[in-house]
Amino acid sequence: MKLKIMRFIEGKNFIEEYDIEVKDDETLLELLDRIRDYKDRTLTYRSFCRSSICGTCAVVANSKTVLACKTKVKDLVQNETLLIEPVKRVKVIKDLAVEHSFIADEIKKVHGWFVDEIDETKENLQTPQELKKYDKQTDCILCGACYFECEALDYESNFAAPFAFTKVFRFVFDGRDKMDNQERIEIAKESMLYSCVNCQKCAIVCPKNISSVMDIKMLQNFDKNSPLCNNIYNFF
Ligand code: SF4
Ligand code: SF4
Ligand code: FES
Repeated sequence: MKLKIMRFIEGKNFIEEYDIEVKDDETLLELLDRIRDYKDRTLTYRSFCRSSICGTCAVVANSKTVLACKTKVKDLVQNETLLIEPVKRVKVIKDLAVEHSFIADEIKKVHGWFVDEIDETKENLQTPQELKKYDKQTDCILCGACYFECEALDYESNFAAPFAFTKVFRFVFDGRDKMDNQERIEIAKESMLYSCVNCQKCAIVCPKNISSVMDIKMLQNFDKNSPLCNNIYNFF
């Protein structure tokens, strides 16, 4: 197989090619490790957990944004060729390693954290039924794949990352969170909640099968000041 890797070193972009045999069931991260260990010690990319938890290893492989540690090489190769590039929308530091500060920036935009009045004398419990409302959204590993692919950002640069709206959903539906829900929605609206273009790419690329587009639609329905509001309060 011909492996092509988009390199970026000291301000210069170029494609490096390697002829390499792919092992059965080898992941893309294992392949990159092999290149770095046996062919080129300077190849740079990010990885930590190797098990789809830390969210750091996203790359573009034959035009698809994937987690390198989760994706089998044989599922990506086309015509015996595989082109690996850094993810889109963020600054490349070196080769496939990109700047990750956008994650905190996007979370800050939507106030995406828990607001609690902690009573240290008792546990703050949830029933399994309560947890079900937002359990899927807590699986987000902040890998950014939805952000790299989001088409709304091509038209509206102030649109928050899809994962940021998923965070808002997670706190709106968590009964322990003490921030007023409509206040959360108003903050999300300042980050262009209604500018999603419904391309579905966030749902397609998410390695945790989270549908941020569905979360966005739910938040739009939850907005008391929106004509879309359809008594979703009664449903929950
Ligand atoms: S469906 Fe909406 S949020 Fe998801 S990637 Fe497309 S524009 Fe972005
Ligand atoms: S929603 Fe999915 S694709 Fe987006 S950051 Fe979270 S895990 Fe990654
Ligand atoms: S190395 Fe942690 S998600 Fe891939």
